[in-house]
Amino acid sequence: MRLLIWLGLSVALVRATPFKGCQHKVKESVAAPPRGWVKHAPAPKDHLIDLRIGLPRPNFPALEQHLWEVSDPSHERYGAHLSKAETDALMEPHQESIDIVNEWLASHGLEEEHLSRSSANDWVTIQVPVGLAEEMLDTTYHVWYHPESDESIVRTTSYSLPEVLHEHIDLVQPTIMFSRFKALKSTLHYYGKEDVTLTSPSGGTITGPAGNQVDASCNNTITISCLRQLYNAVGYNSSATNGNKLGLTGYLEQYANIADLQMFFSLQNPAAYGSNFTLVDIHGGTNNQTPAAAGVEANLDTQFGFGLTYPTPGTFYSTGGEPPFIPDDLEPTDSNEPYTYWLDYILAQDDGNIPQAISTSYGDDEQTVPQSYAERVCADFATLGARGVSVMFSSGDGGVGDGDADPATQECYSNDGTNRTIFIPGFPASCPYVTAVGGTVNIPETAVYFSGGGFSNYFSRPSYQDSAVESFLTKLAPGTYEGLYNPYGRAYPDVSAQAYNFLIVYEGNTTYVAGTSCSSPTFTSFVSLLNDARISAGKTTLGFLNPFLYSSGYTALNDITEGNNPGCGTEGFNATIGWDAVTGLGTPNFEKLKALVLSL
Ligand SMILES: *[C@@H]1O[C@H](CO)[C@@H](O)[C@H](O)[C@H]1NC(C)=O
Ligand SMILES: *[C@@H]1O[C@H](CO)[C@@H](O)[C@H](O)[C@H]1NC(C)=O
Ligand SMILES: *[C@@H]1O[C@H](CO)[C@@H](O)[C@H](O)[C@H]1NC(C)=O
Ligand SMILES: *[C@@H]1O[C@H](CO)[C@@H](O)[C@H](O)[C@H]1NC(C)=O
Ligand SMILES: *[C@@H]1O[C@H](CO)[C@@H](O)[C@H](O)[C@H]1NC(C)=O
Ligand SMILES: *[C@@H]1O[C@H](CO)[C@@H](O)[C@H](O)[C@H]1NC(C)=O
Repeated sequence: MRLLIWLGLSVALVRATPFKGCQHKVKESVAAPPRGWVKHAPAPKDHLIDLRIGLPRPNFPALEQHLWEVSDPSHERYGAHLSKAETDALMEPHQESIDIVNEWLASHGLEEEHLSRSSANDWVTIQVPVGLAEEMLDTTYHVWYHPESDESIVRTTSYSLPEVLHEHIDLVQPTIMFSRFKALKSTLHYYGKEDVTLTSPSGGTITGPAGNQVDASCNNTITISCLRQLYNAVGYNSSATNGNKLGLTGYLEQYANIADLQMFFSLQNPAAYGSNFTLVDIHGGTNNQTPAAAGVEANLDTQFGFGLTYPTPGTFYSTGGEPPFIPDDLEPTDSNEPYTYWLDYILAQDDGNIPQAISTSYGDDEQTVPQSYAERVCADFATLGARGVSVMFSSGDGGVGDGDADPATQECYSNDGTNRTIFIPGFPASCPYVTAVGGTVNIPETAVYFSGGGFSNYFSRPSYQDSAVESFLTKLAPGTYEGLYNPYGRAYPDVSAQAYNFLIVYEGNTTYVAGTSCSSPTFTSFVSLLNDARISAGKTTLGFLNPFLYSSGYTALNDITEGNNPGCGTEGFNATIGWDAVTGLGTPNFEKLKALVLSL
């Protein structure tokens, strides 16, 4: 069949023949959906889904090699980031794959004008009714219901493709993906508490992690000023005009409220009052300004991110998708986990249009994301790194357990059919091409109990962290947690930052929030300030940070050595001297980091 295409026979002839009589073979299946999902009813045939088809990227190893070289300060190509044209070429599928997938789609009446393609042509997206998807994938979709969250999605536990397509398609979604992507923050619900400490910082000072004196109130209430003091960036002024930008992502109808942001600025960074961020709506995302539509997560991210880095220009990406599917009141779309829409958008941007540091505070249990899908999305993050963007993710709020910060309700069962008790790593924190940010609390800083940390079951350990992680593992007593985690997996978090008692403005009132959702925008803000310093000095941006952090950057971080991250009925891992699976390499010391990155 492929031979026909090679010979360049007429499209009509090829279309009529290639998939007739070609056997479907199972492409991917799951033993069962993750715990908590129940099969509700067959999916309505006319319900529309956005099928995303991932075509193999045979040159990804070459892109990865570029990533290692341009991110390694000891390599002569350090900082020589790739252009969009270069990464697009490296992520491009074989023409043969593009052609045969086109033929397959055409054989189902799906023509080019119905398709949308990613910048590198490696993802094809097409909206189809469930009935047609079932025919294409030789499967039956069901509505699955999650009683605990009252969510419904349309999925299947197995799908097939004509055998000839197997080597030309990595995956098709939504099929077997049952992830429940969530914001990684837990609200402490201290609504309306008087913020006396803000107006009268008269409580004296204590010694901060960098050895300087910081307001004693910072031990109970985290503000912009506290983070600047703790992480040693008091008095550093970033530029509004040198081209540096900070990016924050929002999903799940989390809206950043502008009135709340202005009130926050007036309380915590008056110089920023009246400033605004650029809003980018992706895939139907919006930023609804009705006060009741404000999201705690989006408010937290924008207030602290843009508050810490002002006057650096900020961009907030609001990505739509994954609306709740109401079985009795059919919604027209039921999309995939939404990182891919954001990635499609961002990777299609021209050079110079992407913020150089980007924070995301959303994630899910790694095991609920099919490995094929996790690997592809992770490769897209590598592409961003190769283009010189630092990509940060919160490490999760469940310690070594699932995303659930309440140890009593954690579910630590494997979803591979064996139902073993295991630690539950989080994704995308487990992707080796992102920088995962864990959480700390108090002064002196200790690990916060919910700081997500552990070892991937999908991604093997990248060499940049070999020595740091091996040294941590040798400190564990022999046999510790044997069988509960994968000692050869990508270990996370990489770094950490404060995660507790963050004072934000929400619906017009001050309130406290906690979570590694606080840590990621905080760490990212200091990375943005470092990029600012490098750009102003005529240097390239830092790009993918981990090779730098593990080789020399750690010497400019505050090592956190107290605390642990319980979960799954265990005490979790301990913070230790050096890297650990609770706080990574530690929290930032901006002035030290700045001196270091300016010397690279
Ligand atoms: C930063 O800006 C403030 C306000 O304009 C100024 O007082 C301060 O001296 C500046 N700091 C540095 C290091 O330039
Ligand atoms: C801030 O930016 C948003 C998004 O672009 C816009 O809708 C809003 O009107 C702006 N607000 C102010 C006060 O400039
Ligand atoms: C897995 O094991 C737990 C604990 O024994 C049990 O509660 C749960 O129902 C099991 N789940 C499945 C899917 O078998
Ligand atoms: C900060 O608060 C913690 C917890 O309340 C306390 O143990 C610690 O001593 C405080 N730090 C200082 C420097 O007072
Ligand atoms: C905000 O504060 C006002 C006045 O204290 C109070 O009436 C209102 O209920 C608070 N709103 C929220 C969302 O807590
Ligand atoms: C953590 O430290 C405590 C106290 O030193 C020790 O008892 C425990 O075994 C350690 N846990 C791990 C997993 O290393």
